[in-house]
Amino acid sequence: MTIDLAEFPRVQLGHWPTPLDPAPRLAAALGLHRLLIKRDDVSGLGLGGNKLRKLEFLLGRAMADGATQVITFGALQTNHGRLTAAACARLGLRCDLVLTRDVPRSGAAYERSGNMALHGVFGANTHISENEHEVAETCRRLLAEAADAGRTVCTIPVGGSNALGALGYVSAARELLDQVKPDRIVTPVGSAGTAAGIAVALEGSDIRLDAACVSRAAADSLVKISDLAIETTDLMGLPAPTLANLRVDDRAVGPGYGIPTPDVWAALTLFARTEGITLDPVYTGKAAAYLRSAALSGEIDPDETVVFLHTGGHPGLFAYEPELTEAIRDQAD
Ligand SMILES: Cc1ncc(COP(=O)(O)O)c(C=O)c1O
Repeated sequence: MTIDLAEFPRVQLGHWPTPLDPAPRLAAALGLHRLLIKRDDVSGLGLGGNKLRKLEFLLGRAMADGATQVITFGALQTNHGRLTAAACARLGLRCDLVLTRDVPRSGAAYERSGNMALHGVFGANTHISENEHEVAETCRRLLAEAADAGRTVCTIPVGGSNALGALGYVSAARELLDQVKPDRIVTPVGSAGTAAGIAVALEGSDIRLDAACVSRAAADSLVKISDLAIETTDLMGLPAPTLANLRVDDRAVGPGYGIPTPDVWAALTLFARTEGITLDPVYTGKAAAYLRSAALSGEIDPDETVVFLHTGGHPGLFAYEPELTEAIRDQAD
């Protein structure tokens, strides 16, 4: 399928194409012959990550519309918030992050380190809310203040996941297919823009997409991916997708969003100790736990060429101290 994205305004934020690294020691540990890691974690600006690809389209539209301020949302340790703040700094836009405490984690590291520290480094204004009601109130207040001050606001949904944002991963999948023809791609799925964009780009091919849930049950994530994939094809003027090769799996979710399980720490240390590649415990660690389980159980054919999409999230690792230190001690050889 030829997809023309040129008609959508876009700002350049990342370094493309991102590398596609062979991971032979990790592949051997998982019983796979060929495993490649697509390094969207090293995409450039603001310590990198998948959100840059979405923000190129979201902020491209915002700039074209004359926006001077961006408001977006997330948990305290949102990677999307950190990268929105970095991109706004690059583009000279005011950035307001409306954040919620929706993860049962507390302590200095979770509340002040990792992404929380970086939001401030990039100059964003952070507004912390206890619940969704407060989020809505804060947003209303910020919009009223912006109107009074004559600022033009662009509001971006959680995770940058709307149809415009998903175009970033339509584009990423095309970039990947120029590098290799895989049998299977493995990605984390949170707010679903990443998986939806890839799924749209893979329509009509025989490449499987395994979407590993980080927060929701598989059935709920599937609805989110398919709704967003339909909106994305609508935006692009394409027929609705069949999503025939999409598999959504929630075995790695554990107790919920932002709560790493022992399998997550095991996968995270395996990547680090075979390939020197760091994962985060919230997103890529869960996708890696899925990959490890599906490969070791034989659900993934050892002869397949598998691409693991590394979507970034490194700063989140530092927010999990002291849990991180304990988990590493438990994984000692
Ligand atoms: C590092 C990282 N990986 C994966 C995801 C999930 O991507 P999506 O929200 O598009 O499903 C996120 C979303 O916040 C993220 O920050």
